[in-house]
Amino acid sequence: MAPAPRSQLVALRERALGEIAPDRNLEFKGIVPNLFEQARRDPRLERDIIRLQKERNAIILCHNYQMPEIYEIADFIGDSFGLSRMAQQADAEVIVFCGVHFMAESAAILNPDKRVLLPVLYAGCGMADMISAEGLCELKSEHPDAAVVCYVNSSADVKAESDICCTSSNVVQVVRSLREKKVIMVPDKNLAAYAQRMVPEKTLIAWEGWCPIHHGLATGELDSIKQQYPGAEIIAHPECQADMLGKADMVTSTSGMLTHARSSPAKEFIIVTECGMSNMLRREMPGKKFIPVCQICPDMKKIDLFSVKRSLEQMQFEITVPRRVAERARLALERMMAIAP
Ligand code: 13P
Ligand code: SF4
Repeated sequence: MAPAPRSQLVALRERALGEIAPDRNLEFKGIVPNLFEQARRDPRLERDIIRLQKERNAIILCHNYQMPEIYEIADFIGDSFGLSRMAQQADAEVIVFCGVHFMAESAAILNPDKRVLLPVLYAGCGMADMISAEGLCELKSEHPDAAVVCYVNSSADVKAESDICCTSSNVVQVVRSLREKKVIMVPDKNLAAYAQRMVPEKTLIAWEGWCPIHHGLATGELDSIKQQYPGAEIIAHPECQADMLGKADMVTSTSGMLTHARSSPAKEFIIVTECGMSNMLRREMPGKKFIPVCQICPDMKKIDLFSVKRSLEQMQFEITVPRRVAERARLALERMMAIAP
């Protein structure tokens, strides 16, 4: 199969790599995770954001992986599914999405009457960029009898070519709900392999895509941390490879990690996902210990307080989706929401 054409967004992101958290003097490779542990609060910027937010009648949504200072100004912090839900329910004219491009795009698809802003336009997702609508159509033509499930980490064009969306929190439910035995699943091969193990009665055909952050996490590091904390529960994100998930006590979405850690009697947890998740868990449960096995997702660290303020001031960058694409993509998202409300 021909490789997916690289989107404009990828080019933008590559040009912008040097601009990741410039005040922290970081490079794309070798980012030190604990540099992101402390919130870099700025009371003046925070005040400006709150004022602008009221003037614009805006809601600020924030993904769990964002920088800690962004948590402090957010109205709602969550995983991809929770944020999609929140975007739909929000009684606001403007949604400022502190996350990555596909998340803001989903909010725009679900809310054609609201203005959706992404404070940094080139905050993308390496995995979402691994597939195009053309590539998916080619795969569909090879398997005309298969249902098509797309992970929410995908572009609007790809969603428009899919029957139903899923997120990391509802992938099993979504796959189980399908009438077809054969299921194409894009773009994450690790999520597809996980769904295949959980729903063995289906035949999954996976796209050759992966998350550059989760796919690279190694079991060797997990094993040595587990030796130091033998009583710790291991919680992993389903974007990890099968060998990693095989060692986990719990496989779940980012917000699922929060819910599980809250209800578990355990006091120590090894968190296998993007590094920001452990910050969020420590913030919510200061009495428990969270040890990360993680990598930084540079795209998730591009938004800072200054860009949020600029976004509200200048109403940028507005994320829009052509109406005909949005209508078809919305169907895929709404079918998912009907199954996993
Ligand atoms: P969640 O939906 O679990 O928050 O995951 C989003 C994501 O991008 C994980 O890498
Ligand atoms: Fe995409 Fe992976 Fe970053 Fe999540 S962690 S936004 S899947 S590149």
